[in-house]
Amino acid sequence: MERRLRFLYTLFIVAVLHTSRISTQDVDDFDADEATVEIENDPAPPIDVPYESPVVSDKSKVYLSDHFDDVAQFNKRWMKSRAMKEGISEDIAKYDGVWEIESPQKDGLTGDLGLVLKSKAKHAAIASLLTKPFVFNTKPLIVQYEVILQDGQECGGAYLKLLSEGPDTRNLAQFHDKSPYTIMFGPDKCGNDHKLHFIFRHRNPLNGSIEEKHCKKPKERLEDFFSDKLPHLYTLIVNPDNTFEIKIDRQVVNSGSLLEDFTPSVNPPAEIDDPNDKKPDDWDEREKIPDPEAVKPDDWDEDAPAQIVDEFATMPAGWLENEPTHIPDPNAKIPEDWDSEMDGAWEPPLIDNSACENAPGCGRWEPPLINNPNYKGKWRAPLIDNPNYKGKWRPRRIRNPDYFEDKEPFKMHTVSAVGFELWSMSKDILFDNIIITDDIQVSEQWAADTFDKKRQKIARDSESLVQRIANLTNEYPILWAVYIIVLGIPVVFILYLCCKPSSSAASLVKASTVSQVGEGDAPRKRKPRKE
Ligand SMILES: *[C@@H]1O[C@H](CO)[C@@H](O)[C@H](O)[C@H]1NC(C)=O
Repeated sequence: MERRLRFLYTLFIVAVLHTSRISTQDVDDFDADEATVEIENDPAPPIDVPYESPVVSDKSKVYLSDHFDDVAQFNKRWMKSRAMKEGISEDIAKYDGVWEIESPQKDGLTGDLGLVLKSKAKHAAIASLLTKPFVFNTKPLIVQYEVILQDGQECGGAYLKLLSEGPDTRNLAQFHDKSPYTIMFGPDKCGNDHKLHFIFRHRNPLNGSIEEKHCKKPKERLEDFFSDKLPHLYTLIVNPDNTFEIKIDRQVVNSGSLLEDFTPSVNPPAEIDDPNDKKPDDWDEREKIPDPEAVKPDDWDEDAPAQIVDEFATMPAGWLENEPTHIPDPNAKIPEDWDSEMDGAWEPPLIDNSACENAPGCGRWEPPLINNPNYKGKWRAPLIDNPNYKGKWRPRRIRNPDYFEDKEPFKMHTVSAVGFELWSMSKDILFDNIIITDDIQVSEQWAADTFDKKRQKIARDSESLVQRIANLTNEYPILWAVYIIVLGIPVVFILYLCCKPSSSAASLVKASTVSQVGEGDAPRKRKPRKE
C-alpha cells in the first residue's frame, strides 16, 4: 500500500515539475514580446460574420422573397391560417400552431431572423401571396429556402406548398390541408423514414381529374440533414424542358425528368392487358410433367425410416447411470406458511445434480440416432418435358382507352401563393430566406448573401473553439498539468493493475483461480483420464 502511494506521489511531482518548467519558459517568452502575444492571444468572442438582410437586384425575376428580418413586413405579407381541418373532431381540427419571428437559438448572424414554428403536435399553417403569379411557360421555376430543425425532428414535415391560383386559395386565412397546390417540396420524416418530397399535381387532359405525382427517391442518405440541427438549404429547379433538379446545400441530390421519374407516371401506357381476355381451360402451362411411363423399382422401400438407432454406439466412459440428472434441492426449506392440508405434501424444488457437472452424462443412457443408409423416401416419377406445353398464358394487349400523351407536364397550374401547412412532433423549426424566382443566378446570389454566411459563421466558430483552447493554454500553462493529470490517470491505473506486482492484486487473481479449481475438483477426479 505504502509503496503504491509513493509511486503515485512521484508521478504527481514529475507532472508538476514538468508543468512549472513549461510555465517558466512561457513567462520568459511572454516578457520578451508582450505586445504581440497580447494581440494574438486576445480571447475575442467568436468572429462575427457581418450580415445585412439580402436585397434582390432584379425584382422582375422574383415572385416572392422573404428573409423574415423585418417583422412589420412579415406581418403585412404572411397570413396565419385560422382554418379547421376537415373530417376530424373539432378540438384537434384547429390550425392553432404558433408561428414567431425569432433569431436562431444557436450560431445566429447578428440581425438575422427567421420564421419559427414554435409549437409541436399542432396543425399549423401560414401562407403568403406571391408578388405576381408564377405562370409555367418558358422560364424555369426555382424554389429555395432554408430549414433549421433546431430541436431535431422526430416525426413531421418542413416542406412548403406552392398553392394553385383559384377561388380555393384566395383567402389564405382558410389555408388548410385540402387547399389545392401545384407543387409540394421539402423535407419530411417519421421514425426511420427520411424523405425529401417533390410532388406535383397533374391534370388529366381527358377528364380533368387531378393526380399527385411523386418524385423518385434521392440516392443520397438524408439522415444527417434531419439530425445535425444545422441550417440546410433546399432548392428545387424545374425546367421548361421537363427536367428537374433538387439540391441540398447546393449539392444535387436528385435529378431527372417529369416524364420519367414520377409515380404514377404522367402518361399512362398506350396498351394494356385486355381485362376481358380469359385463359382457355385447356391451356397447359406446365413446362415439365412426371414421366407417365416410369414405374417404381421393386427394391424401393418407401417405409424405411430416415433415422435408425446406432447399433455400434456404446455408453461413454464415465457416464453416471445411477445418478439422476436432477435432485431435490438439499438447501430448500419448507415455507413457514406452508399448510400441508391445503397445499398438499411439500416437496423441495429440483436442481441440477452437481455430480453430473463434469461427467459425460447421467441417468439412463440411450444410443443415439443416425441417418439410415437405406432410407429412400417417397418414390416419385422423374420429370420430363411436357409435350402439350404452350408457354405461359398472357392476356391479349389492347389499346388503353384512358391513354393520353402530355408532352409538357411542366405546364402546371399557375401558382399564386406559397405556404407551410405542417404538423410536427418536434418544436422550433426555423424557416428562412425563401425565394421563388425564374433565374438561377438570382437564387444563387440570394444563397450567397444568406445561407453561405450562416455556414461561414458556424465554420469559423467551430474553428475558433480549437483556436481558443490553444490560446488559453498558451496563456495559462498550468492547463498542461490538467491535461497531463487527466490523460495520466488511466495510464497510472493500468500500470497499477498490470505491471506492479502488488500483493493484494495478485491475491485477488489467485483467489478467483482457486475457487474455480475448488469447485471443479471433486468431479474431475471421477472423470476418465483417457481423453
Ligand atoms: C379520369 O381518368 C382517370 C384515368 O383514366 C381515372 O382514374 C379517373 O377516375 C377519371 N376521373 C373522372 C372524374 O372521371
